[in-house]
Amino acid sequence: MQLCRSIAAIRDAVAGFRAEGHSVGLVTTMGALHDGHMSLIAAAKRDHARVVATIFVNPTQFGDPADLDNYPRTEAADLAMLEAAGCDAVLIPRADEIYPEGCETIVETQNLAVRLHGAVRPGHFRGVATVVTKLFNITRPDAAYFGEKDYQQLQVIRRMTRDLHMGIEIHGVPTLREADGLAMSSRNVRLTPEDRIAALCLSRALDRAERVAAEGGSPRSIDDAIRACLADEPRATLTGLDIVAPESLAPLRQAPDAPLSEPIAIMISAQFGEVLLIDQREITP
Ligand code: PAF
Repeated sequence: MQLCRSIAAIRDAVAGFRAEGHSVGLVTTMGALHDGHMSLIAAAKRDHARVVATIFVNPTQFGDPADLDNYPRTEAADLAMLEAAGCDAVLIPRADEIYPEGCETIVETQNLAVRLHGAVRPGHFRGVATVVTKLFNITRPDAAYFGEKDYQQLQVIRRMTRDLHMGIEIHGVPTLREADGLAMSSRNVRLTPEDRIAALCLSRALDRAERVAAEGGSPRSIDDAIRACLADEPRATLTGLDIVAPESLAPLRQAPDAPLSEPIAIMISAQFGEVLLIDQREITP
């Protein structure tokens, strides 16, 4: 695996892959890698002869400087995992090369970015869209792979890629879970043992939502069931619950009390101590 610490170095690496006639899949990350990231690498490897990863803790997508400072950084372990997974090249750039002095261009999906999680984390999706555009421009992949767990992020990236004619295929990869159901996340390592157990209420709530939908429940009863599940867990503070149309994230068209009749995406976020976790599920009636 080629370790590249500059834009010039990764461009050379990718040019080499192209010169050999290979297609390139990209996995962008902020490091602190876990098996969920490896499932993205595996998906990219299934489709492409060469896989490039990036590790960059992007300052512009963090509202709270403490959250940026506390974000786990585990470079040596990350590199070992990428190597073992068969990644061909990794870019670990310096922040001042990604955001050079005087840089003033941003990329923003105007509606998708400000709704739902975007409403409580102003600027977050603008930071994501901007850095992902930069990483796309730097590596120029054929396709890029993102986790479905970050559901709104995936929709923002799909939309900007389409709107800006980037010509890159965007693949959503299903959420990988621990054996007990907790969605894998780089933030899980920061949970106390008690909060680690408490955090299972997220997947439990989504399972319950699925059962309610299967039994003919309405959007409102699904919402109620999820809230009840979270309320049963005193260590959890529900910070966001949205039941929306998949992909567009638009409000549902159906009546809230009628049995579910259209596909939905459920997005939950909850705080456990200092750690904010998210989870998501799509349900088709
Ligand atoms: O999902 C992430 O890890 C980040 O938001 C991303 C896409 C790498 C952009 O910084």
